[in-house]
Amino acid sequence: MKIEKFNLLQFDSLESTNKYCELLDLSEVEEFTVVWALEQTAGIGQRGNRWESEPDANLTVSIILKPTFLRADDTFRVTQVVALGISDLLMELLPQHNIHIKWPNDILVDGHKICGTLIASTLQGDHIATAICGIGLNVNQTLFPDWVPNPTSIALLSGQRHVLRPLLDQLITCIGQRYQQLRDGNRTAQDEQYLQRLYNYKKSARYQYHGQTIDATIQGVDTFGRLLLTTADGQSLCCQMKEIALLPAD
Ligand code: BTN
Repeated sequence: MKIEKFNLLQFDSLESTNKYCELLDLSEVEEFTVVWALEQTAGIGQRGNRWESEPDANLTVSIILKPTFLRADDTFRVTQVVALGISDLLMELLPQHNIHIKWPNDILVDGHKICGTLIASTLQGDHIATAICGIGLNVNQTLFPDWVPNPTSIALLSGQRHVLRPLLDQLITCIGQRYQQLRDGNRTAQDEQYLQRLYNYKKSARYQYHGQTIDATIQGVDTFGRLLLTTADGQSLCCQMKEIALLPAD
């Protein structure tokens, strides 16, 4: 889908763009409506965390999708499309760098987190009705609070500041193209590219798994978006997000 124009709702400040979308009557909202706030006063991250973003420096947006062509058990496809679209954009902007998708929601550049996503979908019957795709992309911020784990930004990596609005257009184009690829039924290509970009795919790493430290190797992701791993002692694991977390390298 070439998104030439999209419906943009732009705000100087919101608590959270995802929260704003949740309050809308989405049946009245066009697909690819984008809610953009220059500042979020209570941005929401994964696992109950806050999403901290310097005002006017980064992209904090939520894109409203209506992937009604997807079945309810295909919600991971939306996560995948968004991650592929964001990583496409970063591969264009930062061609000298290593771009990875850290399962399930983060985008890393050279091992540092540049972007997080928070996606909430609703169902109608056995299909998806709407998906609010929240994206926090670090663009011009160069200093981060100490508690933010392992951050980076486009400006830190490229040495250049970027104007946010054209970058938002590029981001929506990249996600639109991936969304169209999915709509066209090209799932195999997306699965392959997702694995090619998956951080630590087929590499041994240390994880926190149900309170224990384990060494394991990612073998893939199943159709429900669960991470598949094998442990150093040969056990197979199939994990939801709350069950496993990558530990920082020593
Ligand atoms: C993460 O923890 O990595 C997910 C971060 C998601 C942040 C984005 S910013 C725009 C949207 N609105 C929110 O409140 N959160 C998401």
